[in-house]
Amino acid sequence: MKTVLITGCSSGFGLETARYFLERDWHVVATMRTPREVELPHADRLRVIALDVTDPDSIRQAVDAAGPIDALVNNAGIGYLNALEGTSMDVAREVFETNTLGTIAMTQAVLPQFRERKAGVVVNVTSSVTLKPLHLLSVYTASKAAVNAFSESVALELEPFGVRMRVVLPGRAPETRFGENARSRMQGGFPDAYAGLVQQVFAQWQQESAITHSIDVAEAVWRAVNDASSPLRIAAGADAVALAGA
Ligand SMILES: NC(=O)c1ccc[n+]([C@@H]2O[C@H](COP(=O)([O-])OP(=O)(O)OC[C@H]3O[C@@H](n4cnc5c(N)ncnc54)[C@H](OP(=O)(O)O)[C@@H]3O)[C@@H](O)[C@H]2O)c1
Repeated sequence: MKTVLITGCSSGFGLETARYFLERDWHVVATMRTPREVELPHADRLRVIALDVTDPDSIRQAVDAAGPIDALVNNAGIGYLNALEGTSMDVAREVFETNTLGTIAMTQAVLPQFRERKAGVVVNVTSSVTLKPLHLLSVYTASKAAVNAFSESVALELEPFGVRMRVVLPGRAPETRFGENARSRMQGGFPDAYAGLVQQVFAQWQQESAITHSIDVAEAVWRAVNDASSPLRIAAGADAVALAGA
């Protein structure tokens, strides 16, 4: 029986991915900053563990408590939408601390066991925004593009040890708590000079019919973990797949 550790399972893609693996007989270590009851089946194969990917002590304790795992899914992430001029360096650091450095730190924490066993797979959830530049997303996109580049490079050095690395790139998914969670970081509002652009961006979103659903991401993560012949980058969701093929 195999075990996957997933970060950011309190909602959205992480929660759906945990459910997907549980339904396919895996043991799941569902991690979240503040452990709470979540709607997941098969409690006998589920462990919920506290993990904040920006906290080295929390990472060490969670990885120790999880024990041997076969796959790590770096899904935890935060969003941010604003013009660069409206972005404080504190927010820029927060976004990189979670999305980029959190992913790097978690990967480092599990690699010794993967290398020694000559097996294991790390899946990093980035974003389709890295496939095409979009307005007002410069810092968020940079945090995820860095993970793409990081993953491609680490994949090379892990290959001789039989350890795989994959990147899943979801499209826009309004059904998760992502937008709501990002808004708490956007209290300062948009700079006046960008008001017209902000309106255009929101109007554009209203017109887009192709979106990503959590199940698309769970399926892509499943493929990344279980199909050794899968490509390093896997787009998830109708909009992301269209963008990747463009
Ligand atoms: N939704 C989209 O449109 C979209 C599109 C492309 C990519 N993505 C990426 O997909 C991933 C999942 O997003 P989602 O849409 O499922 O959003 P979500 O519902 O907001 O879920 C994000 C998860 O990350 C967790 N998290 C945030 N900071 C953390 C930290 N420091 N340590 C541990 N966990 C932390 C959150 O936990 P708390 O409950 O503790 O805050 C939450 O469980 C993210 O990496 C996001 O960047 C999202």
